[in-house]
Amino acid sequence: MIANPEPGLSGLAIREFFRNPLAVGSAFPASRYLVAHMLAPVDWSRVRCIVEYGPGTGIFTRALLARLPAQARLLAIDTSAAFIDHLRGQTDDQRLIAVTGSADHVLGIMADHGLERADCILSGLPFSTLVPVRAARLMDRSCHALAPDGRFLAYQMRRVVGPLLARRFARVTTGFEWRNIPPCHLYWASEPARI
Ligand SMILES: C[S@@+](CC[C@H](N)C(=O)[O-])C[C@H]1O[C@@H](n2cnc3c(N)ncnc32)[C@H](O)[C@@H]1O
Repeated sequence: MIANPEPGLSGLAIREFFRNPLAVGSAFPASRYLVAHMLAPVDWSRVRCIVEYGPGTGIFTRALLARLPAQARLLAIDTSAAFIDHLRGQTDDQRLIAVTGSADHVLGIMADHGLERADCILSGLPFSTLVPVRAARLMDRSCHALAPDGRFLAYQMRRVVGPLLARRFARVTTGFEWRNIPPCHLYWASEPARI
């Protein structure tokens, strides 16, 4: 388990936000309301492999580890080495694989760790700061990474990820969470296209 949970604004989140505001998107980690709302529709006891894009300080990572079965794997990928070092320092949970890298390389990173298909991808990426061609490529790769019955979950303050999901997933449901800084749009997508 991850020790010493660190809710709310932290020095690390503020430092990383000012170091790279476009990539980090917000200095405020996800609220417990956002986490509970985002994770509620999924039966986590059936998930064997989940990939998290942009774990940051690990608010969602901790909540996922609390829900996942003992034999599951959680691959957390963040471009910030400081966030990944922080995650590694917080836990000795053998289910967590924390990697400094870009979600753009999800397929290679999964292969490096012997992971074939993900049951779920959870994205905290600020899609509105990605150039459209990169965002589209990342989505295509995510579809490849998912099992046929896999799901893509995303939370975002803007709605940029919505059309990207609608083009690649047969089913997309949406939600909104006010109790977060900033308030957030939520997406649950399933039935990925085989691209
Ligand atoms: C809005 S923050 C979300 C942090 C955390 N999940 C939360 O909800 O509090 C976005 C995160 O995505 C990471 N990030 C940005 N671009 C990325 C990329 N291409 N691949 C992986 N992580 C990325 C940032 O470093 C940051 O940790």
